[in-house]
Amino acid sequence: MLFVSVFLIGILPLIIYSLVISSNLKTYFEDSKEKELLYEANKVAVSIQKNNYLNDNKLRGQFIDEIDQKSEEEGFRIIVVDSLGVAVADTNRSAVGKMCVVPEILVALDGKDDANLREEEGVIYASAYIENDFSQKTGVVLLVASFDEVNTLLDELNHNWLMVTVVISVLLVVVAFFITQAIFVPLNNILNTIRRIAGGQLHNRLEVQGHNELSRVAEAINVMTQQLEHVDTARAEFVSNVSHELKTPLSSIKVLSESLLLQEDMPVEMYREFMQDINSEVDRMTNIINDLLALVKLDYREEGVLNISETDLSELVAAIVKRINPLAGKKNISLTLDNVKEVKIEADEMKLALALSNLVENAVKYTPNDGSVSVTVDADHQNAYFTVKDTGIGISPDEQQKIFNRFYRVDKTRDRETGGTGLGLAITHSTVMMHNGSIKVVSAEGEGATFIVRLPIKYQGVRSNEG
Ligand SMILES: Nc1ncnc2c1ncn2[C@@H]1O[C@H](COP(=O)(O)OP(=O)(O)OP(=O)(O)O)[C@@H](O)[C@H]1O
Ligand SMILES: [Mg+2]
Repeated sequence: MLFVSVFLIGILPLIIYSLVISSNLKTYFEDSKEKELLYEANKVAVSIQKNNYLNDNKLRGQFIDEIDQKSEEEGFRIIVVDSLGVAVADTNRSAVGKMCVVPEILVALDGKDDANLREEEGVIYASAYIENDFSQKTGVVLLVASFDEVNTLLDELNHNWLMVTVVISVLLVVVAFFITQAIFVPLNNILNTIRRIAGGQLHNRLEVQGHNELSRVAEAINVMTQQLEHVDTARAEFVSNVSHELKTPLSSIKVLSESLLLQEDMPVEMYREFMQDINSEVDRMTNIINDLLALVKLDYREEGVLNISETDLSELVAAIVKRINPLAGKKNISLTLDNVKEVKIEADEMKLALALSNLVENAVKYTPNDGSVSVTVDADHQNAYFTVKDTGIGISPDEQQKIFNRFYRVDKTRDRETGGTGLGLAITHSTVMMHNGSIKVVSAEGEGATFIVRLPIKYQGVRSNEG
């Protein structure tokens, strides 16, 4: 299809152009031939008039030689007729002495010089009358010529045009072939790869060659595929993490309940203890599922997911600190609220409370006994800043990249005793992103950690890209 289009686009203007040119040329040649004949007829008539050839018998021979020569040179027939319509000279000789009743002669004799040209079946007749000194019509000069010459010329031109058209057509076929090759081959590659990707082979990538539009398309498709692959792995990882997280409490419950069932006449206290363990495992599972549901909701990133209202950030933070204080007290950690600037922001109060308390909880959780945790709230004219600084175990730069991922925990062996699932920071991160804020961590291993959250004072809607 492309091939045919390229070919037609190339050849059609040429054909139209040659048709127009050839018809214009035909008219032009015919017109000029006619004009030339009329001009010649008049010239002969004037010369007859001037030299009085018709009446002077001595000069007549010389005159006939003259028109014979002219007729030979120019290729037309000249007939001279007297006022009665009898031919007195004919370069073909056949008409001499005969009456000539060609319409041009009659018209010319009548003196109507607007009808002195006629064309019939490729033959042109041009006439001019001859006058004597008293303005009387004494005869007519008739020139007869055919368009043969013009037609031969035109045929030759057309033939040349045809040759040019054929040569250009051949060139166009070659050019169209290369153009379609240059477009179709890469396009087909792209198409095949897209089909493979759509079929689930996400590792496929397109070869990017050169710097044209197609290579840019290929690049964009590669980026898209990479993203898809990333999402696909993340999904698989997520599912396996969730299953793993839920399997641990489930197998505990299984073991506990089985031993309850197998043991006969077990003391009531044992029963109670086992049931308490089962109960706390169920709580753990419920927590995980609640966290997951919270995350899934945050993931929709739609307008309206957030319940935005004016929130007193300082008040909110004070409440969080108050709630976590007993926990800190157990580890003899001093949890203090320093430098609290009064600031009201537009936010989803519930979600923000959860997000920020995750940070304070972590700070207490990952700080050994007798340490300290300090919380501050600050603001400029556009943003509010929430900071939690602890003197805990700290996070190495490598880990800092990963702690916001779902289920990610630095020390995997400790999860049972600290009871974490690694979802807390993922929830915090998503919530902050939903508010168009940002979160960053400053820390080194063994030197405590500082989490800084920036939140815009005015809520600006959900942005689609993560930042
Ligand atoms: N203040 C901190 N100091 C040191 N390490 C931290 C701190 N906060 C988080 N981390 C590390 O980041 C990991 C991820 O934190 P996150 O809050 O997501 O999970 P978690 O606290 O283990 O479990 P939970 O889902 O119950 O919060 C933690 O397991 C911990 O290793
Ligand atoms: Mg946590």
